[in-house]
Amino acid sequence: MTAGRAGAVLITGAAGRLGSSMARLLGERSCPLALNDVDEAAVRALAASIPGAAAFAADVSDPAAAAGLVEAVTSRFGAVDGLVNAAGIEGPLAEVENLDPDEVRRVFEVNVMAMFWLCQAVVPGMKRRGRGRIVNLASGAGLAGGALASPYHASKHAVVGLTRSLARELGPHRIAVNAVCPGYVDSPMVERILDATEAATGRRPEVTGQVPMGRLADPAEVAATVAFLALDAPEYLTGASLVLDGALRA
Ligand SMILES: NC(=O)c1ccc[n+]([C@@H]2O[C@H](COP(=O)([O-])OP(=O)(O)OC[C@H]3O[C@@H](n4cnc5c(N)ncnc54)[C@H](O)[C@@H]3O)[C@@H](O)[C@H]2O)c1
Repeated sequence: MTAGRAGAVLITGAAGRLGSSMARLLGERSCPLALNDVDEAAVRALAASIPGAAAFAADVSDPAAAAGLVEAVTSRFGAVDGLVNAAGIEGPLAEVENLDPDEVRRVFEVNVMAMFWLCQAVVPGMKRRGRGRIVNLASGAGLAGGALASPYHASKHAVVGLTRSLARELGPHRIAVNAVCPGYVDSPMVERILDATEAATGRRPEVTGQVPMGRLADPAEVAATVAFLALDAPEYLTGASLVLDGALRA
C-alpha cells in the first residue's frame, strides 16, 4: 500500500468463528483493528483480548447503523483502509414454496445489502486517500447452487457479482475489491446447516468425504487468505473470488 499513516481495518461479524480468527491474525500483524458485531458483549470481549483493537457494536444491515459505524471508526482511527465484510447468516433451509418471505429478505439484508451500505460509507474516504482494500466473505455457495438453501446460495452469488462490479468501478481509484469463497469450514455455522438439513430431510450429509483433501478447512486458513487480500496481495489482484475448499468444486 502507499505510504502514509495506516488507517484501520474494519471487520464486520468479528465475533463469529471466522471473524474472530481474522481479528486475531490481523492483531498479530499489529494492524489497527475496528471490530464490529451485532453481538455487543462478544465483540467487546474479543476486542479486549487483542492489543490495538476496538469494538463497535452495530447491526450492519441497517444503512444508518452502517454509516454511523464507519463514522465512529473513522473518528477513532483517522481512516478506514480496509473493510472485511464477514457478517453473515445461513438463513432458512426449506423448499422454495415453503420459504418465509421475511427470512429470505433477512438473508439478503445481512449477506448482501449490508455490504452495499458499508461500501457506500468507506469508499469516499478510500477515494480521497487513493487506496483501499475490500474483502467480501462469499462462499463456495456463491459459485454453485444448493438445494433447500436457495436464499443463502443466491445471496452469496450476489456477493460475487457485487465484488466483480465494485472492482471494476473502483479500480481507477486504486481500491481493490475481492471475495473469498470458503467451502466447508470447521465451524458452528456448518454444524447448524448440517443440523437443519438433517431435520428437513432425515439424513445428515457426510461432508468430509466429499472433499478431495479429506477434511474441513480450519478457520485460520480462511483468516490467512483474508489477511493476504487485506494487507499483502498485489494491488493488481482485484475482482477475484478466491476459492478455498480443499478442491471440493475444482
Ligand atoms: N463457516 C463456514 O463454513 C463458511 C463457509 C463459507 C462462507 N462463510 C461465510 O463467512 C462469514 C462468517 O461465517 P462464520 O462461520 O464466522 O459465521 P458465524 O455465525 O460464526 O459468525 C457470523 C457473525 O456475524 C454476526 N452478525 C450477524 N448478523 C449481523 C449483523 N446484521 N450485523 C453485524 N454482525 C452480524 C454474528 O453475530 C456472528 O458473530 C459469513 O458470511 C459466512 O456466510 C462461512
